[in-house]
Amino acid sequence: MNIFHTKSDLKAYLDAHKTKNKQIGFVPTMGALHKGHLSLLEKCAQENDISVVSIFVNPTQFDNSDDLVKYPKTFEADVTLLEAANCDAIFAPSVQEIYPNNVAASPFDFEGLEHEMEGKFRQGHFNGVGTIVKTLFEIVQPHTAYFGQKDFQQLQIVKKMVQIQQLPVIIKGCKIHREKDGLAMSSRNSRLTDAHRKAAPVIFQILQEVKNKFKVDPVETIVKWVEKEFEKQPLLHLEYFTIADEKTLKNCEQKDPKIQYRAFIAVFAKEIRLIDNVRL
Ligand code: PAF
Repeated sequence: MNIFHTKSDLKAYLDAHKTKNKQIGFVPTMGALHKGHLSLLEKCAQENDISVVSIFVNPTQFDNSDDLVKYPKTFEADVTLLEAANCDAIFAPSVQEIYPNNVAASPFDFEGLEHEMEGKFRQGHFNGVGTIVKTLFEIVQPHTAYFGQKDFQQLQIVKKMVQIQQLPVIIKGCKIHREKDGLAMSSRNSRLTDAHRKAAPVIFQILQEVKNKFKVDPVETIVKWVEKEFEKQPLLHLEYFTIADEKTLKNCEQKDPKIQYRAFIAVFAKEIRLIDNVRL
């Protein structure tokens, strides 16, 4: 496995493979890898000749400086995991390598997807995501890139960017990986206290109950029920819960049988922000 820190070194390595018509698969990450990331890599390795994983904690997508500073960084452990999981190349650039002039996001228009859910609570977050994902696509020039569905809004936004800007890459969304107790795997889970970690699986339990209720109850009733359930949780603070159209991410007010809906949630466990979603 090769580890590259500069665009030019990675490009030289990939160019040699591209001239031999090798398929390049790409998994962008911010490191602190878990089984969810490894499942993306597994799919990537199955479907491509060369698998590239980037590890870069992108400063421009953090709306909270404390979250950026405390974001888990486990580079050595990540390298060991990737080595064992058929990764061919790691791209781990410095902030200077990615943002040589100005550490700032560019503005993006994702046709309104960016104004829903996360976009309402994380100012500028999706401009940061668009900026880094586009930059990484330009550097790696993968045939296919793999994203987890835990960040479902991010997945839809990346697909939209690729469509609007006609970027030559196929985007694949991969299913959410969960701990045995249902908690969606996330790099941030390692920052939970024992008590918050014990409380957190209720997020998925509530989402599962929402899935049942959605068959019979109106959306308004379900939203009220979720809010009440979180009032019973002293260690968890509900930031938002919404049922939305998978494609437009717009709130569902009246159920339409022609539309595929998903339930989305963001919860604070102390200062750790956890998100999750289920298809309804
Ligand atoms: O999902 C993530 O880990 C990040 O948002 C991504 C896609 C690697 C961009 O920094």
